[in-house]
Amino acid sequence: MILVTGVSGGLGGLVLDGLSAVEDIDVAGGTRSGDGVTRRHIDFDDPSTLSQGFEDADVLVFVSAGYAEDDVVLTRHDAVVEAAAAAGVRHVIYTSLARSGELMTIALPHRWTEARLAAAPFDVTILRNGLYAELLAGIAASGTESAAATGVFAAALGSGRVSVVAREDLADVAVRVAVEVQRDLTAGRHSRHAGKTYELEGLDAIGGDDLAELLATALGRLVGYQPVSLLDTRKALADSGLEPYQLTHALSLLSNANAGMLEAHHSDLAGLLPTAPRPVRDLMARALKSQ
Ligand SMILES: NC(=O)c1ccc[n+]([C@@H]2O[C@H](COP(=O)([O-])OP(=O)(O)OC[C@H]3O[C@@H](n4cnc5c(N)ncnc54)[C@H](OP(=O)(O)O)[C@@H]3O)[C@@H](O)[C@H]2O)c1
Repeated sequence: MILVTGVSGGLGGLVLDGLSAVEDIDVAGGTRSGDGVTRRHIDFDDPSTLSQGFEDADVLVFVSAGYAEDDVVLTRHDAVVEAAAAAGVRHVIYTSLARSGELMTIALPHRWTEARLAAAPFDVTILRNGLYAELLAGIAASGTESAAATGVFAAALGSGRVSVVAREDLADVAVRVAVEVQRDLTAGRHSRHAGKTYELEGLDAIGGDDLAELLATALGRLVGYQPVSLLDTRKALADSGLEPYQLTHALSLLSNANAGMLEAHHSDLAGLLPTAPRPVRDLMARALKSQ
């Protein structure tokens, strides 16, 4: 049986839907508010939920739960690894962060978790997910009002470009890998995915000019990109009601974009998808149109 965590979320929900559509696969999902019937109660912050939550799982699709300070994330991910080993899970598929994001602050708990998993007594596959297209669509969306009024889209991306990916593509890869691993386990075969790390970087890199163009299409007017400083952005974000850790991560993303670090040079994505990756510009255009 395959168990997916975080199924109330965007990624886990898509993975659960995809696995539920595969005839020979038994699947269960977990959330913090599990009902014990259709959803197991799985709260990484409450290790007492994990032994029962992980019962009978051969394969665990461990969706990272990164929305907290690093010490909290490390503690919760450590509890997952500990409990998966104790429950006899045979293979863990962990959703990590792609190599281009290596220097972002969010990379630390992901790389720590990868190392923790490598020392565990089960097989592991690491899916290093690229940044979601919706993250950049969100940056563009935050500039809609001023772009509509002034024709200027201001953001602290410098001249950097960010490789982004459709979350649906990441879910499709997770489903494929989980199904193949489960079938291998059932047939008593060693899985070709065991011990593998896949870089699921987006194949299209988007910069400030591209976001301005998307805004121009959505608004039906000319919009130009104007880079702004990280200092001004730090000041603006400090007053925006973000949690302190979110401020750290948001600025780190922008710093990395400025430095040109978020443009990927290698991706395993296309090789793991049945069809071409979804065009991220179309996704972003739809997201901007529907806001
Ligand atoms: N690659 C990227 O661009 C990117 C961007 C944002 C986040 N991420 C990471 O990727 C993960 C999945 O993304 P997503 O889009 O599905 O995020 P999402 O829609 O925000 O969902 C997050 C999921 O994490 C679960 N969760 C949070 N705290 C938990 C805990 N203590 N124990 C168990 N589950 C917990 C939530 O489940 P419940 O609320 O039901 O408990 C929810 O289902 C995120 O959690 C984050 O670590 C990646």
